[in-house]
Amino acid sequence: MAPPLRATLALRRATIATCDGVTNDPCLGDGRAIAVDRERVVWIGPDARLDAAVDLSGARVLEADGRLVSPGLVDAHTHLVFGDDGSRAGEFGALAAGRSYAEIARAGGGIRATMRATRAASDEALLGSARARARRLLAWGVTTVEVKSGYGESVEEELRLLRIVRDLGRALAGEQDVVATVLPLHALPSGRDREDWVREVVALLLPEVASEKLATACDAFVAASAFTLEEARRVLLAARALGLAPRLHADQLADDRAAALAAEVGAASADHLEHVGDAGIAALARAGVVAGLLPTSTLLLRGREWAPGRRLVDAGVAVALGSNVNPGSAMSENRGLSLSLACLENGLTPGEALWAATRGGARALRLPDAGRLAVGAPADLVLWGARTPAHLCWHAAVNHALCEVKGGRVVHEAREPCAADCTA
Ligand code: NIG
Repeated sequence: MAPPLRATLALRRATIATCDGVTNDPCLGDGRAIAVDRERVVWIGPDARLDAAVDLSGARVLEADGRLVSPGLVDAHTHLVFGDDGSRAGEFGALAAGRSYAEIARAGGGIRATMRATRAASDEALLGSARARARRLLAWGVTTVEVKSGYGESVEEELRLLRIVRDLGRALAGEQDVVATVLPLHALPSGRDREDWVREVVALLLPEVASEKLATACDAFVAASAFTLEEARRVLLAARALGLAPRLHADQLADDRAAALAAEVGAASADHLEHVGDAGIAALARAGVVAGLLPTSTLLLRGREWAPGRRLVDAGVAVALGSNVNPGSAMSENRGLSLSLACLENGLTPGEALWAATRGGARALRLPDAGRLAVGAPADLVLWGARTPAHLCWHAAVNHALCEVKGGRVVHEAREPCAADCTA
């Protein structure tokens, strides 16, 4: 009798991290197989039982030979849409010479420099460069990517950037899911009065974002050089009333008590957290807010403090690991680097880091089905050259992704010698 299930794709003899169990646990199992029928996972189990359980006659079968299979990475924090006039590359030299991110911003660089370059760029140029960055993330295993606005100097500019994010999602349909976040409180646009800007965001920008369905979340950067707790509270509560999930850039440069605000407004995530204190950690745990770790930016800003990933996990907080691709603090799509730093500097185990880069990201975006491998879940997955999460993090900053599958379709395969194959 033919097996009851049919498959269009199967991966066999794999070490599978389903990331579909207890928070922060990758749920690793070796000698496993996974079968996919069109866009959904239909079976996961011991390899020895695959042939009896699934009809493979119409399936492409990939031999994992002991390598790791995980859900596609869910990158819950990026700023992919920006114009680049080269000025931020110049800032890199200043950072390397010892100037701080805040000093550079005060001198007219930083986020405002990118706002100017973005205003000068055409829609086509912004879409094209964002697409190239998203494709680089796909090559690193990212099958779902969040993209923020935040470089708009006016309500019209912010809306233009969000429409470009929408177009990016259409251009990438079937390869990568794009999730948009409006970030109106990033840096005060030049020449604007603070109170006027916050009022305009609440009265004009957010209602338009909600009515055009241009974003599912609203973010704010709380810092001495950016916006206050009170300004962020007003904007996030207004966003929440319109159905947009609050999120925060929190406690990145100092302990600004922004994690507590994230808990108070029921944020989906509080990201950065390099300077979060014990009270902030406890608040995140109590409120069930996801902590977004972005260690690539801590590295590239030469931060002295790393977000306390270990203490967050031990306190019961779900942790996400994002790339934070942006021209100022994290000009890198390298997800391998962030996985290794998450272990070395944030104190996660390799398995926790993988969970954070997959299911953790999905939790930060409130996507119930993404970032996990389970029967009925979307077949978004990565076959890695590495055998275990430890191999992935140990062979640092090297692209181990051999094959990415989105909705059951192979959408990217590494060409030698890009991918490291650790099986030897
Ligand atoms: O998440 N901290 C604020 N926003 C970005 C940096 C943006 C920029 O410098 O252009 C971040 O690190």
